[in-house]
Amino acid sequence: MDTALRDVVERLRERIPSPPAVGVILGSGLGDFAELVEDAVAIPYADIPSFPASAVVGHAGKLVAGRVKGVPVAVLAGRVHFYEGHPMSSVVFPARVLGLLGCRDVIVTNAAGGIDKKLRAGDLMLIEDHINLFGTNPLVGPNPDKLGPRFPDMSDAYKKELRALAAAAARRVGVPVKSGVYVGVHGPSYETPAEIRAFRALGAHAVGMSTVPEVIALNQMGIGVVGISCITNMAAGVLPQKLDHSEVLETTARVKDRFVKLLVALCEALGTGRTGDVLESPSRKEAHPVGHDPKRRVAAPKRSPKRKPAPTSKPKARR
Ligand code: HPA
Repeated sequence: MDTALRDVVERLRERIPSPPAVGVILGSGLGDFAELVEDAVAIPYADIPSFPASAVVGHAGKLVAGRVKGVPVAVLAGRVHFYEGHPMSSVVFPARVLGLLGCRDVIVTNAAGGIDKKLRAGDLMLIEDHINLFGTNPLVGPNPDKLGPRFPDMSDAYKKELRALAAAAARRVGVPVKSGVYVGVHGPSYETPAEIRAFRALGAHAVGMSTVPEVIALNQMGIGVVGISCITNMAAGVLPQKLDHSEVLETTARVKDRFVKLLVALCEALGTGRTGDVLESPSRKEAHPVGHDPKRRVAAPKRSPKRKPAPTSKPKARR
């Protein structure tokens, strides 16, 4: 395995309180959830070797480990994007770290433009599948066999079982969610109206400039993914107005309470509502040595012996 990856995981293990069961990647303007983490240890990306730093407004740039509703979590507040000029290996590096730290599932969030005319700015959309229009793939190049297969299956990238669990969690806390297909594009220019019409014809409901690379890397590692898009604006040409990043930030600010509520419910559901409840396991490490998927091929690096074990402790609204 990549030695940079291994080194970072070893170092982080020394600093975070218990192995995370659930990872969360927060998109543009969606960083507030990180403030809710209890017993939090916050590590700025700048202090983590090999972690790429984002320069985009609305991306805080820290890893926060702790607990949400008793579930051990690791939250990436801020991500880097391919359009910033980082290579794909750097774009997916933090997601791979989450996997190697022991996350069984990762919630990947983003801000997205609504393509489907039934969506509205402010809606939350559970991602049911994606279309990769980045023009490349994070797995291009030599394949570190320890991370996963050369040709990973992507036919259930956002697992049906996890989507059902997420939809049930959303209903339980009264947060309306829609469901749809996310198309990931390179950016950073927004799309033209003709591109948006083409994406609609392809079957996409929302468009954004992130998520797809991380989801591919996580699938390769056999890690469960839940994807949530915050529809921050209607995509180009849907409404008679121009697109502006300030609208993205304004909408995320307006939606953040609902969004945070949903994430808390999701963390709880992923930690307690699945086979192999992480709170019931005397040691999560024993219960889930390398994630939930028995076929998963990632070898979690050996833990330091001095560490203690973790304490015991679809609404298809449219279409
Ligand atoms: N297009 C691409 N990415 C986005 C958009 C959009 O309209 N809104 C938020 N991220």
